[in-house]
This record gives sequence, structure tokens and C-alpha cells, in this order.
Amino acid sequence: MLNGRHLIDIKDFSKQELNEIFDLADQIVKNPEDFSHCCDGKILATLFYEPSTRTRLSFETAMLRLGGKVIGFSEPNSTSVSKGENIADTIRIIGCYADVVAMRHPKEGAPKVASIYSKIPVINAGDGGHQHPTQTLTDLLTIRSIKGSLSNLKIGCCGDLKFGRTVHSFIKAMSMYENNSFTLISPRELKVPEYIKRELDKNNVVYKETKKLEEVIGELDILYMTRVQKERFFNEEEYIRLKDSYILDKLKMQEAPERMIVLHPLPRVNEIACEVDDDPRACYFKQAQYGVYAREALIMKLLGLEL
Ligand code: NCD
Repeated sequence: MLNGRHLIDIKDFSKQELNEIFDLADQIVKNPEDFSHCCDGKILATLFYEPSTRTRLSFETAMLRLGGKVIGFSEPNSTSVSKGENIADTIRIIGCYADVVAMRHPKEGAPKVASIYSKIPVINAGDGGHQHPTQTLTDLLTIRSIKGSLSNLKIGCCGDLKFGRTVHSFIKAMSMYENNSFTLISPRELKVPEYIKRELDKNNVVYKETKKLEEVIGELDILYMTRVQKERFFNEEEYIRLKDSYILDKLKMQEAPERMIVLHPLPRVNEIACEVDDDPRACYFKQAQYGVYAREALIMKLLGLEL
């Protein structure tokens, strides 16, 4: 039962629970109109302490498409946060106003703290350089819809694997499914954190690390590109040195198999050249569309609503 639960880490949900969300999302994809009153009378609060386009607006779109309403902020300085209010108090108050909350915060663990004090479900919409589980729901729904399965895949993750919270949650989730293997492509300075590697080892997942995208692109079923996370760097020079470590262009795509799809949580900066957008294997805009369906399904499940 997902009714009343929080989603802070993708592993808060079992494989079976994830599949229930994807099954519901599939139904929404097929007949979106059927769901347009499922959340009548319900309110989603979006508390965004950090910039966002897709995540906040896709949450809001999801709730509006289900017939619910939305309150919230995207600029914490316009709220009592600027007066020094702590997360525990803010969430206690929001719980009096809304039925479910999506929170993004620059501090790792902030949504977790909120969930401890909350009487309504808290969804982690990205916490610092840590996790981003609803992007993962989006990513997995996309792969399931395009590839037909979440197992037996050779997955390349490329770019900022250190600060990129989307890849952390994505790797955790995909390592739950059978026979997936990972190629982790990054500069030495932006390697995946140890705690993610421990997770892979614990589950006996095969993975390798490399710096060279062109040497491995020919082996992949999925290439998950990421942006170098400028806002997490302490040193601007280091960011400038690393920001263009990888640029996926037409030439590199010639080395990629026909079956390989390219994903990216977006926003992209330079890491995928615009000339790749027309390639049928480029699935990142489709992925953003799936984000709405995934979030619609999640909201319904956490509120215990059915068609
Ligand atoms: C990602 C994020 O915020 O972590 N964006 C998103 O939610 N789609 C990726 C990023 O900002 O690079």
C-alpha cells in the first residue's frame, strides 16, 4: 500500500510498488481524460527552495490534470523562510493546508527531515546533490515504455556522476532489476560517490568506470547524459575546466547502436549538441512528457485514489 507514504529515496518503494505506479501511469498515458476528476478537492503543495522548471511545473500539471489544485512557492525568499522559519514548522503548517507536498531543497536530507514532522505524504523533488526519486520514476517509465522492459540492459551514465542527483537515484533503481550492467563515464573528479558503488556491490551488479565515452558508446542500450552541476562546485575554475568534458554529437552517435536510446533529465547545457535532437534515438523530450504521467500516478497512489 502506497497510501499515505512518503517518497524520499527511490528504495522507499519495492519493485512491486514501483511497477504498480508504472502500470497506473500506462493507463493514464492511454486514456488521460478518464483521470481528470480523480483528485477533485485535493491540494498539492510545491515547496521549491531551489530553481526548477520541469519538476515543479510537471508536478503542478499532473495535479491540475487530475482535477486537483496547487499551492506553493518557487522562491523561498518570499516566504517566512526568510524570517528564519525551520523546515519542521513549515511542514507542520503546510500539512494543515494541503494533502500532499513536493519539496526541493539545496540541503541533502531536508525532505527527509520534513517527512518526520509531516502528517501528509512528502515527496522529495530533489535534495542537493543527493537523490531525485521522481526523476527516476520518469526515467524508468520512459525506458519501460520504449524498451518494453527494465531488465537485461547495458546502461551508460555519463557526465557529472558526483553531484548529479538524478543518476544516483537512477542507478539505485535500475540495480533492482535483473541483469542490468552499468558503465559509469565521467572525469576522475566527477566519479560516482562511494555509497552508490557500495549499493552496486551489495546487489552484485556488474559495473565499470571509464573516462572515454567514445570507447564504450558502441556497447550500450541506454545512454543517460547529465549536466555538470555548476551550482554544486566550490571552485568556478574547476567547473569551467570540467563543464565540457562530454559533448554528444552526430559523430559520436554514428558509433552508437541503433537500439541505443539517449536520455537526459534536462536542462541540458552543452553536453548534447542540438544536432542530435532529430535522431530517433534521442528520447529526452519524450522523457519530459512521461514525467507528467509518472507524477500523476504517484500522486494518486500516495493519496490512495483509484479511477
Ligand atoms: C535535474 C535536477 O534538478 O537534478 N533536473 C530535473 O529535475 N529534471 C537535473 C539537472 O538539473 O541537471
